[in-house]
Amino acid sequence: MPCYDALEQIDPEIYDVVRAERHRQAKGLELIASENFVSEAVLETVGSVLTNKYAEGYPGRRYYGGCDVVDRAERLARKRAKRLFGAEHANVQPHSGTTANMAVYFAVLQPGDKLMGMDLSCGGHLTHGHHLSYSGRDFEVVSYGVDRDTERIDYDEVERLAIQERPKLIICGASAYSRIIDFERFRQIADRVEALLMADIAHIAGLVATGLHPSPVPHCDFVTTTTHKTLRGPRGGLILCKKAHVKALNRALFPGIQGGPLMHVIAGKAVAFEEAASEDFRAYQQAVIDNAKRLARRLEGRGFRIVSGGTDNHVFLLDVASVGLNGKIAEGALDKAAITVNKNTIPYDTNPPMVASGIRLGTPALTTRGMDEAAMDEVGDLIADALGATDDEAALAEVRQRVEALCERFPLYEGLP
Ligand SMILES: Cc1ncc(COP(=O)(O)O)c(C=O)c1O
Repeated sequence: MPCYDALEQIDPEIYDVVRAERHRQAKGLELIASENFVSEAVLETVGSVLTNKYAEGYPGRRYYGGCDVVDRAERLARKRAKRLFGAEHANVQPHSGTTANMAVYFAVLQPGDKLMGMDLSCGGHLTHGHHLSYSGRDFEVVSYGVDRDTERIDYDEVERLAIQERPKLIICGASAYSRIIDFERFRQIADRVEALLMADIAHIAGLVATGLHPSPVPHCDFVTTTTHKTLRGPRGGLILCKKAHVKALNRALFPGIQGGPLMHVIAGKAVAFEEAASEDFRAYQQAVIDNAKRLARRLEGRGFRIVSGGTDNHVFLLDVASVGLNGKIAEGALDKAAITVNKNTIPYDTNPPMVASGIRLGTPALTTRGMDEAAMDEVGDLIADALGATDDEAALAEVRQRVEALCERFPLYEGLP
């Protein structure tokens, strides 16, 4: 395990930050759907001497000497990613999901070309064409949403829009969408308008890797993901693509967008891909889904509306306006009770994003620390109790004590100093 003796001696202030954050993670309920707790093996790798190495380029074709060793890590990461997802090519260098998406756009689009993605307010991501992101600034954007009544993607409407707008690239995938995505149908739509198709599976990568969500890989030209959400690896990105796009994609990422790759993180990704190929990991992903369904049901039973009526994956949106709150107030009250969530717009929200009418809840992190469906009932009650007492400091402090007691039953990183 990493040992923090040197840090404590040399920089007590940052040592204290690390210690306090470890305490916060252990003593609170982490329900942010995009977060997780990496294994101790991943933690060791990311904290290793591999951070010292410059390795611009790709294995066997570097701009620096002394890369033979780190080449092994990158080759392993690529091989394992391809095997895990059944992909023809993997680029493991993206520093993040945002640069992974950027590399795809820069590989196949010219400035001003048209891309089509899911609207942020309906569950899409900033990088799928939002005007504040490079994706909305450098390209012409057409957005699709979800159906007002079902709050699910209306594939006929996506098709109609694609035929009308003829985008060069269609993006499917989301940050806050709790239903199975029909990648095959997206391929049919893309084929009708001769568009390229990219799936961004940043959120559901762990479910896809274990076969618990249909894979986009056979249907898409590109598949991007982060490695740190359900996939439970270090913070970073990954791009999978068909052979025909390898050259353009690799060039777009380096030297197009990034410089030296983070070799310690790439090695950490390799470790996580190996872990994700195990039976244990499949059981973990199944538990993530079971827990999300159970938590949603419990909260429904406590009077909250769940967007789209439930979940098929690791995440769901709780409509807190359904109990007279907004997302900002709910997030703040839960924070005081050591329950971490993020406020989130719900489809066709009338509140602005910084207020929002919902909160997004995800189960990957709680499931990693061993919480099961019975624990989800307790978590649901803790959330409902806190949201029933948003102005009552004493009641929130009492919920916080119950949260700490629950967390003690499911310890985190016991081996760490
Ligand atoms: C669907 C999706 N794509 C891309 C990203 C961006 O990832 P990163 O924060 O690593 O840039 C996110 C992050 O939340 C995401 O949810």
